[in-house]
Amino acid sequence: MIRIIPDVLDAAGVTKLRSLIDAADWTDGNETSGPQAALAKQNQQLPEFGDTAAEAGRFVLEALGRTPLFIAAALPLKIYPPYFNRYTGGDTFGDHIDNAIRMRRGSDFRMRADLSATLFLADPDSYDGGGLVVEGFTEAPGLKLPAGHLVLYPSTTVHRVEPVTSGSRVASFMWIQSMIRDQGQRNLLFDLDMGVQGAAMALGQGDQTVVRLTGVYHNLLRRWADS
Ligand code: NI
Repeated sequence: MIRIIPDVLDAAGVTKLRSLIDAADWTDGNETSGPQAALAKQNQQLPEFGDTAAEAGRFVLEALGRTPLFIAAALPLKIYPPYFNRYTGGDTFGDHIDNAIRMRRGSDFRMRADLSATLFLADPDSYDGGGLVVEGFTEAPGLKLPAGHLVLYPSTTVHRVEPVTSGSRVASFMWIQSMIRDQGQRNLLFDLDMGVQGAAMALGQGDQTVVRLTGVYHNLLRRWADS
């Protein structure tokens, strides 16, 4: 299942983030790649351990924390500090699969990547190519979302970024370890959550059926979640 999370950042947030990262020095995106990804990847990246990446990463994480649809869909336990990348002049990231375990150099941060996320930071009309193709979900020319929108997709999928033939595709991406490891269970909880919210809107938060269904949601979460 891929899920689109609109408006993680509003226009002012995108502008603020872009002015921060556009002013920084970017480096070859392969500095952080493993050997297989290095073959496929050709882009630029904000240096992972720089001050700008840290500040911009906090900005993205705070925005995600204010986005209920993201929380409901991902049920995040850990989020890898966001990366920022830029594709121009034919840059591309060919078919690959993301590593299962991510460790952050120089720290004890360690996580399992269940979900991958791309937060688009450029207007789709401002570049050609650059669509995200996720095998089994999107086909070429791939997905391009308005700036400030995010796509969540399973880290288990083969995916790629099509070559950018003009303009500049700027995005943030991150990995998420979900409290719910199993995709099927995670999807069920999301559907139940949406159903309960719909029922609460129709019947009121204090309705006995809504109370019971809310209980089922939380008791399934209690049964299945890592915390
Ligand atoms: Ni990837």
